[in-house]
Amino acid sequence: MKKITIAIDGFSSTGKSTLAKQLANHLGYVYVDTGAMYRAVALYAMQNGYIGSDFFDKDSLIKSLPLIKLQFKYNADLGYAEMYLNDVNVETVIRTIEVSGFVSKVAEVSEVRAKLVEQQQEMGKDKGIVMDGRDICTVVFPDAELKIFMTASAATRAQRRYDELVEKGDAVTYEEVLKNVEDRDYIDTHRDDSPLVIADDAIEIDNSHLSRKEQFEVVLELINELTKTL
Ligand code: DC
Repeated sequence: MKKITIAIDGFSSTGKSTLAKQLANHLGYVYVDTGAMYRAVALYAMQNGYIGSDFFDKDSLIKSLPLIKLQFKYNADLGYAEMYLNDVNVETVIRTIEVSGFVSKVAEVSEVRAKLVEQQQEMGKDKGIVMDGRDICTVVFPDAELKIFMTASAATRAQRRYDELVEKGDAVTYEEVLKNVEDRDYIDTHRDDSPLVIADDAIEIDNSHLSRKEQFEVVLELINELTKTL
């Protein structure tokens, strides 16, 4: 079957990465979680004292960009690639609420976006890729054969993210998570560079009332239909 590019955009905690991983495993494609790349840069900014609750030294972060090495390394036990920042596995730490609190600010910086978009386009040049993020359909792969835009209500998404964090042992409240989801929605959709918008030719999937299995089947059907015509 001819390999295609599958681009998935959408709001935070809409299950983009779950769907993307299912598709990649089923199709034998490479999965790239671009949010993890922005999270790793945010972690770097935190570790180096460039960002905190009341300051953001963008210039120092921009100057340091050549020193930030991002890599995905496949973990066969997990069935997906983990994020490495300068050779250190940061897959778990980038998912904490602290990193979630700063990542949208870091993702607003055009120089950060330019560096990550270039790396993402390079990773996808041979197709056979599933990539999820906020600008994948619009900026990274505007010519992707399949574009999906995922949505769900903020309350549904906050509950999902809260359950995940609590299961991992994070001491967070539902209200804190809901505020983080709403704040990130606002920043992601209002930033000047590559705001989150639905591409004209993207297929919108609201999964507030779909199980993971149902959603996977809906998208697989779309892929089967599409690849028949290629
Ligand atoms: O998908 P996520 O929640 O892990 O993404 C983390 C943040 O990174 C999110 O607030 C928006 C930003 N992001 C982005 O601006 N562009 C992408 N392609 C992916 C993520």
